[in-house]
Amino acid sequence: KTDIIKFKGNAKDKIYLKKISETLSDGGLVVFPTETVYGLGGNGLNKRACRKIYEAKGRPSDNPLILHIAENSQLEELVLEIPDVAKKCIEKFWPGPLTIIFKRSEIIPDEATGGLETVAIREPNNKIAHDILKSVNFPVAAPSANLSGRPSPTKVEHVIEDLEGRVDIIVDGGHSVVGIESTVLDVTVDPPMILRPGKITLEDLREIDKNITIDNATIDSKSGVIPKSPGQKYRHYAPRAEAICFGGRLDKVVNEIKKNIGENKDKKIAVLATDETYDQYKNLDIKLLINLGSREHLEEVASNLFDALRRCDEENVDIIFAEGFELRGIGLSIMNRLLKACSGKVVMRI
Ligand code: TXA
Ligand code: MG
Repeated sequence: KTDIIKFKGNAKDKIYLKKISETLSDGGLVVFPTETVYGLGGNGLNKRACRKIYEAKGRPSDNPLILHIAENSQLEELVLEIPDVAKKCIEKFWPGPLTIIFKRSEIIPDEATGGLETVAIREPNNKIAHDILKSVNFPVAAPSANLSGRPSPTKVEHVIEDLEGRVDIIVDGGHSVVGIESTVLDVTVDPPMILRPGKITLEDLREIDKNITIDNATIDSKSGVIPKSPGQKYRHYAPRAEAICFGGRLDKVVNEIKKNIGENKDKKIAVLATDETYDQYKNLDIKLLINLGSREHLEEVASNLFDALRRCDEENVDIIFAEGFELRGIGLSIMNRLLKACSGKVVMRI
């Protein structure tokens, strides 16, 4: 029922692209790659297509979608105004992993925005995404292409696992480069506020406007304290296993994790480690030891994170011990996801 398509770089691509654009125009659903994560796309100006997206994902209909566009020029008719700060962000970061929240125009249906008066818009930086978005004459609404509550998909295998049989087409674009979802910046409030941190960091955005703030709910970055997740709201990116994140000085973190491994001998354990620490866990009784990459290259860690959480599910582990990261730059974006993965469970502070 679901066609899985891979662009080959030859004449066949045109036929594929036509099929994708017809499917979207007919109100169908197409999963396509972006530089962040895969998106579950439908016509963002078509109520029925939007409703189908929520259905396919199993997502509550009050959680709004992001509209994806191919060119800046498409923005005008979708929003009421483009504040100066947004113009500067677009100039600097589009196409790229930055979603901007605007006051919406009347052509956007309630179904796309969960009834809000604002709309989220993004111009992704991925060749396949761009070609698809250019092939239709409407914005494509696309949440991450995972079943609601599961980690966002960064490989086509993840998409197939969650959505095969629930969508018309899945486009294979290989491994997502960024690997965590776009930064969401609300420019309808003054000062503008980051609602979700991503590869484009608070520090990056403050170069444009030093007053930009970040929603405290994403992580309490001022005190450097990792909040105990207040449950419900954070039920997201959740692996099936219990997950505990250990923050603080790295040597203490490693010791604490080792101690916990010793205390949980009856359980199937996964450890999310880094280049710097990996060897220290090697000879321990661990079902799944994952190296997320180097702490010197947090982009690498970000791009491996969701795949790691899914592997924990596949291996049916009971408990995940994850090393924490510094609450700044991309580290903050990684911690935002990790803490949600640890939903409702203890987060250690050292
Ligand atoms: O990188 C990404 O952003 C990916 C790719 C596919 O583009 N998409 C994605 O979509 O992550 P989704 O639906 O999983 O996340 C969209 C986020 C949600 O947290 C949603 O609540 C927020 O953006 N959002 C969307 N519209 C909003 C609005 N009008 N006001 C506030 N938040 C909004
Ligand atoms: Mg999502």
